[in-house]
Amino acid sequence: MSKKKLNVGIIGYGFMGRTHANAFRKVSNFFESGHVPVLKAACGRDQAKLKAYADKWGWESTESDWRAIINRSDIDVVDICTPNDSHAEIAIAAARAGKMVMCEKPLSLNGPQGEEMVREIEKAGVANMVWYNYRRVPAVTLAKQIIESGKLGRIFHYRAKFLQDWTINADLPQGGAGLWRLDAAAAGSGVTGDLLAHCIDTAVWLNGSLDTVSAMTETFVKERVHSATGKKEKVGIDDACTFMGRFSNGSLATFESTRYARGHKALYTLEINGENASIAWDLHDLHRLQFFDYKDEGRFRGWRSIHVTDSDHPYMGNWWVPGLQIGYEHTFVHQVADFLQGLDTGKFASPTFRDALETQYICDAVLESAATGSWVNVPKVS
Ligand SMILES: NC(=O)c1ccc[n+]([C@@H]2O[C@H](COP(=O)([O-])OP(=O)(O)OC[C@H]3O[C@@H](n4cnc5c(N)ncnc54)[C@H](O)[C@@H]3O)[C@@H](O)[C@H]2O)c1
Repeated sequence: MSKKKLNVGIIGYGFMGRTHANAFRKVSNFFESGHVPVLKAACGRDQAKLKAYADKWGWESTESDWRAIINRSDIDVVDICTPNDSHAEIAIAAARAGKMVMCEKPLSLNGPQGEEMVREIEKAGVANMVWYNYRRVPAVTLAKQIIESGKLGRIFHYRAKFLQDWTINADLPQGGAGLWRLDAAAAGSGVTGDLLAHCIDTAVWLNGSLDTVSAMTETFVKERVHSATGKKEKVGIDDACTFMGRFSNGSLATFESTRYARGHKALYTLEINGENASIAWDLHDLHRLQFFDYKDEGRFRGWRSIHVTDSDHPYMGNWWVPGLQIGYEHTFVHQVADFLQGLDTGKFASPTFRDALETQYICDAVLESAATGSWVNVPKVS
């Protein structure tokens, strides 16, 4: 079969710039598709660092302004790996230029901005996707299959946590390279949009919509030096957020995220309790799914730890041999594989911009609830 080249223009060469470049390079070695990504152009503002990145990862050319990527006729898909405050402007310009768009999460700074992005991308009719990569951890995809098979029965509880500890030091500045996550203007919010957005995307995918939420947030370090001004300025992000909620299926939600959980680097865990069975997953042990089935014979009943490496497990038939596990970077390979398959079949891979808008609405509702001290209903994506 002759394959169609898909010329990628990436914007941003940081953490995600590396995970995506790796995924574009690897995907065709492991997954079949009628489309083959070509690492056509990389864009960044520091030309020396950009050149080093492009050389290392095999990008054919470089651009210093993202508009140049969008204006190039040889670019098919624009991949946005920049901080959150630039997603909307770049995505909308790319869509208007008829480019497909892959955008890092969170989709936008807030719901209204996300709505505009959905409107523009759908008007342009181009393929689009948001990189909520945890859906593509094979163990999490297996959880989805188990839930859809009905094995859990009625679901009572969904519980998720995302814990880190890297901002406890009060001397850490806000803003600038590496620290834009502490600057509300660049990030939109703190742990809610950065970490809970992942937990929420997975939860909505596994357990359906959230109807209403009640949240509290805290900013433990109230002032930090801003890297742009060199002066101490008020910190506008949430350092920690805990919320509860109700899903449309009647189950109860509890979510917690913080960057002040000493000892935890990236502890994303989730647990789902149903009437017949429960599921638990932990990012630090991402190739395993914990499963408890009450229908097992009593004497043998207990939590089992499924090593998600068999060829009949999601995505695993494309990798090595049963028993050999894969890791974090592969979730991005899977995301590209599904994007390419979407192009093959004409059905865009999820989460699309429209899918990701729901997470944006929930983040907004969580922050509003924390600010007002009241329950907030989550608007439906129309
Ligand atoms: N899917 C995930 O698991 C995941 C993980 C980390 C980050 N993210 C998201 O990815 C995005 C980037 O995060 P990161 O950790 O890679 O950040 P980073 O700070 O490591 O990299 C950001 C890059 O964007 C570049 N950049 C910033 N403004 C630019 C502009 N105007 N033009 C061109 N380049 C510009 C920076 O120079 C840098 O190369 C964020 O939206 C973040 O929320 C997602």
